[in-house]
Amino acid sequence: MAAGKGTRLKSKHPKVLHEVGGKPILAHVIATAEKVVPARDIFVIIGHEAERVREAVDGSGVNFVLQAEQRGTGHALMVTRDAIAGKSYDQLIVLSGDAPLITAETIKRLSDFHIAQKATMTLLSADLDNPYGYGRVIRKGGKAEVQAIVEEKSATQQQKKIREINSGFYAFDAAALYEYIDQLSTANPHGEYYLTDMAGVLHRARKKVVAIKTTDAGEVLGSNTRAEMIMLDARLRLAKCRVLLEAGVTIYFPHTCVIDSDVEVGADTVIEPFVQLLGKTKIGEDCRIRSYSVIGNSVLGDGVTVRPGTLMEGSRIGAGAVIGPYTHMRPGSEVGEGAHLGNFVETKKIKLGKGSKANHLSYLGDAEIGEGVNIGAGTITCNYDGMNKYKTVIEDGAFIGSDSTLVAPVKIGRGSYVAAASCITEDVPADALALGRARQSVKEGWAREKREAQREKKRQRNSKP
Ligand code: UD1
Ligand code: CA
Repeated sequence: MAAGKGTRLKSKHPKVLHEVGGKPILAHVIATAEKVVPARDIFVIIGHEAERVREAVDGSGVNFVLQAEQRGTGHALMVTRDAIAGKSYDQLIVLSGDAPLITAETIKRLSDFHIAQKATMTLLSADLDNPYGYGRVIRKGGKAEVQAIVEEKSATQQQKKIREINSGFYAFDAAALYEYIDQLSTANPHGEYYLTDMAGVLHRARKKVVAIKTTDAGEVLGSNTRAEMIMLDARLRLAKCRVLLEAGVTIYFPHTCVIDSDVEVGADTVIEPFVQLLGKTKIGEDCRIRSYSVIGNSVLGDGVTVRPGTLMEGSRIGAGAVIGPYTHMRPGSEVGEGAHLGNFVETKKIKLGKGSKANHLSYLGDAEIGEGVNIGAGTITCNYDGMNKYKTVIEDGAFIGSDSTLVAPVKIGRGSYVAAASCITEDVPADALALGRARQSVKEGWAREKREAQREKKRQRNSKP
C-alpha cells in the first residue's frame, strides 16, 4: 500500500518517496518484498502523485494498481480485485509502504504462521512501550485469536492501554479477503474503509483471525511524522554501520556518519567522523576516508586516501590515489592509479592518467590527461566560451607550469613543457616548450630612482616656511 498522501508530514512530496537511509521509504519495502516473492507477484498500490511514485520505483519489474481516490487502506485492497482476484494466489501478503524496516525473515514468519494456523487473516503485531497512534489488537480473553483491531481514534480509554499494536502487515486467504471485503464500512471517525476492520468482519463470519508478534518491535515502526521518519533514518544508518563494522570496516564515531543503504566498503578501510557516503558509492579495501568528505555515487579502488573536506560525485578513483584536502570532483571525473588531486582542485568530466598530479588550486574540466603528467598550481582549462564546451588533451609526461590557462580546444603533446603563467591557445607538439606570455623586461635602477624622487619631494615640503 503506497497510495496515501502522508498528510501528517506536511509535505509537497508523497510520503512513500521521502528518503530514509538514502532511498525512498517505498524502495526499501519493495526490495524486502522481492526477497520473499518474485517482482511479477508484487503489486504496488499507488494513488497520490501516482506517476511520481511509479517512476521512482519502476524498473524493478513490479506491478502497479491505481487507487485513484484514497479512501482508506481497506479501499486500497478493494481496488486490487481486478488485478489480483483472478490469479490463483492462495495467500496475499499486505505490506505497508511506509514502514521500511521490515525484514524478509519477519514476512516469511508471518506467512508461515498464517499457513500453519490455517488462518483466514494473520496480522503481524508488536508490543510497543508507546503504542499511541497505532491500531490496537483486541484478543478475546487473552486468547490467540483476534476479535478486532481498534484504531487510536475509536479506541476506548481501556483499549488505549493495550500495548499490542497492529503493524500494518498482514497475510490473508486471498479468496476470503475478496469475498468479505465489501462488508467494510466507512462508519468511523475518518470516514474511510479500514483494512483493519477485516479482523472484525472475518471474526464475525467465524473465520480464523490470528496475530503473530515480531521479535523486534523496531521493525514495524511507521513513518507518519517527520519525527518518526528521522528515527527510522537513524536506525537504518546505525544498522548499516553495524553491517560494515562486521565486514571489517572501521568507522569512528559512527553516529556522526551518514552512510546510505546501498553503499559498499571493503575491509580495513577506515572512515573518520563526519563522513557521508551516499547513493551507490563503492569503496575498496585499505582506504582512508577522512573527516568532512561527502562522496556520492563514486567508485574508489583499494588503498585510496581521501583527505578532509573532499566533495565527490559520480567519479571513479584508481587504486592508491590521493585526493584532497578540499578537492571538488564533479560527475564524470576519472582518476588513474596513484594519481593525486590536491587542495582546491575542481574537476569535471576528466580522465587523469596513472600517477598524474594536480596538487593545488586548479580547474580541470572536459579534459583528457595522460599518465605521469604534472599540472602546476593554478592551472585552468578554459573549456567554455559561453555557448559550447571544448576539450583539452594533455598527453603523457607533459609538464604544465603554474598559473597556465589552456584555452580549449587545445592539445599539449607528449612530454612537452608549458612555461609558467602561459596562456596556451594553440596546440603544443610533443617534446616542445611552449611560452605563452610576454617576455619579461627589467628597468635597472627604476625603484631606487622612484624612492629618491619621493624623498626629494618630502624635503621640499618640509622646508617651506
Ligand atoms: C495503519 C493501520 C493501523 C496500524 C498502522 C501501522 C489502518 C486503518 N490502520 O494506520 O492499525 O497500526 O497502519 O503503521 O489501516 N494507503 C493507501 N491508500 C489509502 C490509505 C493509505 O494506499 O487510501 C497506504 C499509505 O500510503 C500507507 C499505508 O497505506 O503506506 C498505511 O496508511 P496510513 O495512513 O499510514 O495508516 P496508519 O494511520 O499508519
Ligand atoms: Ca502509517
